[in-house]
Amino acid sequence: MKQSFSKIPKINGEISLPGDKSISHRALIFSALAEGRSSIINLADSEDVKSTIECLESLNINIEKEGNRLFIHGAGRNGFTKPEHPLDCGNSGTTARLLSGVLAVQNFTSIITGDESLSQRPMKRIIDPLEKMGCTIKSKNGNLPLHFIPEGKINGFSYSLPVASAQVKGAILLAGLNCENTTTVIEQGNFSRDHTERMLGLPVDIRGKTKTTQVSSSNYPIAREYAVPGDISTAAFFIVLTLLIRNSSLVLKNISLNETRKSFLKVLIEMGAEIKVEGIGESNNEPYGDIIVKSSELNNIEINPNIIPGIIDEIPILAIAGIFADGIFKINGARELRVKESDRIKSLTENLQRAGLNIKEFDDGFSVEGKLKDEIVTFESYRDHRIAMAFSVLSSLMEKECMVNKFDCVNVSNPQYLEQLEKIKAQ
Ligand code: S3P
Repeated sequence: MKQSFSKIPKINGEISLPGDKSISHRALIFSALAEGRSSIINLADSEDVKSTIECLESLNINIEKEGNRLFIHGAGRNGFTKPEHPLDCGNSGTTARLLSGVLAVQNFTSIITGDESLSQRPMKRIIDPLEKMGCTIKSKNGNLPLHFIPEGKINGFSYSLPVASAQVKGAILLAGLNCENTTTVIEQGNFSRDHTERMLGLPVDIRGKTKTTQVSSSNYPIAREYAVPGDISTAAFFIVLTLLIRNSSLVLKNISLNETRKSFLKVLIEMGAEIKVEGIGESNNEPYGDIIVKSSELNNIEINPNIIPGIIDEIPILAIAGIFADGIFKINGARELRVKESDRIKSLTENLQRAGLNIKEFDDGFSVEGKLKDEIVTFESYRDHRIAMAFSVLSSLMEKECMVNKFDCVNVSNPQYLEQLEKIKAQ
């Protein structure tokens, strides 16, 4: 589906967003592992999260919906049933990697698959540590499909993460829930998002640039109620749009304010953005609050490569902010962008070139400067939800009506994106 966007004159109002995708996946998986009934309010309604629900249902977990609440009847230890067919993780890297940590330690064989994009994403990063724990996993040269084979004894171990990845960390910690002895995950310098350790209440030790997280079977989750705050990565698109349109303001209600997720707000504030946070609360050890944004004049700043893991999902929309800011927008140290839902360095640079901008592409980033074309431009989504939304924001700021091809991929994280955008448009 090709979606067109005309210039938005003004943004105004208040918006609530569906639950955070990362927290939603984890609330579902922890509920499925726990014995008895858990409930989740404000779960993300995205296709990625649906993939996790469907995989859990294939393991014989009963999930019911009542209004804005989901009830999950968890299996308890060793309670999953061998699935009848391969589990399809769709486009969702978080589903594939987190569930690998669960499936690799079961006493039955299982297989996970995914769509074309997910089938090209690296899985060796989870296979290696899980095999070090004693799991047996067969793959197609480090890619999906993965076959989990119950063989040998699984043991806790100590592992230094070679890439700052919350999905890899999460897979190891989930597998560690099945081991009596302790599993330790060590992160150096660039800490990845910490939802798994927060929501499971795991012991964490931070000394200087080293973080250690420990898990054992004593941390096995119990049935509980989860309330998922609004998705801060989804909020990012509306925040940047508001900043870049004159006389605009927006209140985003009850958004996740997890420290490992909000670094892009700090980047924008350093660039000159008027952003405030109010009404801070906490639920399931996860902070949330209201974000208040006003139109602002921005200047590009030097983005320290050390903060990349904390802004990795927001780089596409930060690049759009960078186009309208004084100076040159430049990202380095972000090679991980190449193995997301699309090669995001390529997707961004090709689209920015379509808009008439000057690009320098590096192996681990890019820079962009120049003046936007005053022409109709058709952008490509590369079937990547964050690229589609980033270029819908750019299209809404261009003088002429612009288009984004294959826009329906936004359903991966936010099926209500277009309605939400309509709601906050003002004259
Ligand atoms: C996620 C972790 C990040 C992020 C992804 C969600 C998670 O991926 O990009 O959108 O929920 O754990 P990596 O672990 O590959 O960095």
